[in-house]
Amino acid sequence: MSVRAEITGWGKYVPEKILTNHDLAQMVDTNDEWITSRTGIKERRIRTEKDTTTTMAVAASQDALGVAGLTAHDIDLIVVANSSPDYLLPASANLIQHALGATCPALTVAAGCSGWVYALVTGSQFIQTGAYKNVLVIGVELISYALDYTDRSTCILFGDAAAAVVLQPNTDGAGVLTFELGSDGGLAQNLWVPGGGTVNPVSQSVVDNREHYIRMNGQEVFKFATRRLTDCLKNITGQAGMTPESLDVIIPHQANLRIIEYAARSLELPLDRFFINLHKYGNTSAASIPLALVEAIEEGRVKAGQIAGMVAFGSGLSWAGAVVRMGERIHAGGAPELAVPAMA
Ligand code: COA
Repeated sequence: MSVRAEITGWGKYVPEKILTNHDLAQMVDTNDEWITSRTGIKERRIRTEKDTTTTMAVAASQDALGVAGLTAHDIDLIVVANSSPDYLLPASANLIQHALGATCPALTVAAGCSGWVYALVTGSQFIQTGAYKNVLVIGVELISYALDYTDRSTCILFGDAAAAVVLQPNTDGAGVLTFELGSDGGLAQNLWVPGGGTVNPVSQSVVDNREHYIRMNGQEVFKFATRRLTDCLKNITGQAGMTPESLDVIIPHQANLRIIEYAARSLELPLDRFFINLHKYGNTSAASIPLALVEAIEEGRVKAGQIAGMVAFGSGLSWAGAVVRMGERIHAGGAPELAVPAMA
C-alpha cells in the first residue's frame, strides 16, 4: 500500500489576552450585535508582551511533539505557514527551528489564511517520497501587528494563535488522501498590505497613510470565499471517490460564520458537519485550520478512522483543501502532562 502522511501529534497555543466585541466597541465605532450578526465572532486572542511569532509556534509545537512521543532532535523537516514573521529576514521557520532546539531544515510557506493547508500538503510530499519520516507542520500568526485599530471593517475579524501537527509515514490507509491548491493573483488587492514591501518600502508617507496595515475589500473576499469553499470541497472529495456528504467532519477556515453557513446551504449539509470555533478566536489566518483541527480532536469531534475535509481561502487570493483520514493514534484530550522538553 502507498505511503501517506498521517497526523500523529497535535498542539496549540493561544495568547492569554482576550479582546471581546465589547472591548472593540470602546476602540472603534462598532458594537457586539453588528459583529456577531455579520461574522459570528464574539472574542479573539491578542498577543501579550511575552508572545512573539516564534514563542507561540514553539509552545504549540512542543505539545504536538509530546503527543507524537518525539523530541525536537527527531524532526526531519519543519514547514511553517506564516505571514506575520518576527522579522522580514530571516524567515519565521529558521527562528522557530532554533528556538525549538531542532537541527533540521525549515521553510516558511506564505499563503495567507490558506498557508497551513499549503504547508500540510508540502510536508506530506516529503513523507510520501520517503525523503523524511518526521515532519512538523506549524500554522502561526501574530496578525494583530498588521491590524489598523482605526479600521472597523478589518480589526474586528482577526486574532493571534498558533497550532501544529506532526506528520509520519503510514501504510494502513490513514493520512492525506487528496488535496487541491489554488491561486488567483489577479485578485491580490482585495486583501493586502500595500506598504512595507519592495514596491512601496517603509517611509514616513507609508506610515502616515497607514499603508503598513491590512486593507480588505470585504464583499469581494466574501464572494470568492463562498465559491471556493464549496467548489474545493467538491473537488477534493471527488478525487477521493467521495462527496462532501461522506466527510465525517469539515474543518473550514474560521473567517466568518456566514461564509460557513452559505457553504453548508450550497452543499445541502447540516451546519453541525462543520467544526466551528471562530466565536472564540476570530480569524487566526494560517493558524485557523490547525487550531480548529486540534480542538476538534481534543473534543472528540474527529476520531480515529474518520475522514476530515479541510478547506481554506485567503490572501493571494488563494485557496487550499485536503481530505485526511485520521489514524489510530487520534484520541480525545490534550497533550500529555509531561510534554517533551524541546530546548536543546
Ligand atoms: N461595525 C459596524 N459597522 C460596520 C463595521 C463594524 N465593525 N464594519 C463595517 N461596517 C459598516 C460599513 O461601514 C457599512 O456602512 P454603510 O452602509 O454606512 O457604508 C455597513 O457596515 C455594511 O458594510 P459591508 O462591508 O457591506 O458589510 P458586509 O455585510 O459585507 O460585512 C464583512 C463586512 C467584512 C463582515 C464581510 O464582507 C466579510 O466577512 N467578508 C469576508 C472577509 C473575510 O473573510 N476576510 C478574511 C479572508 S481570509
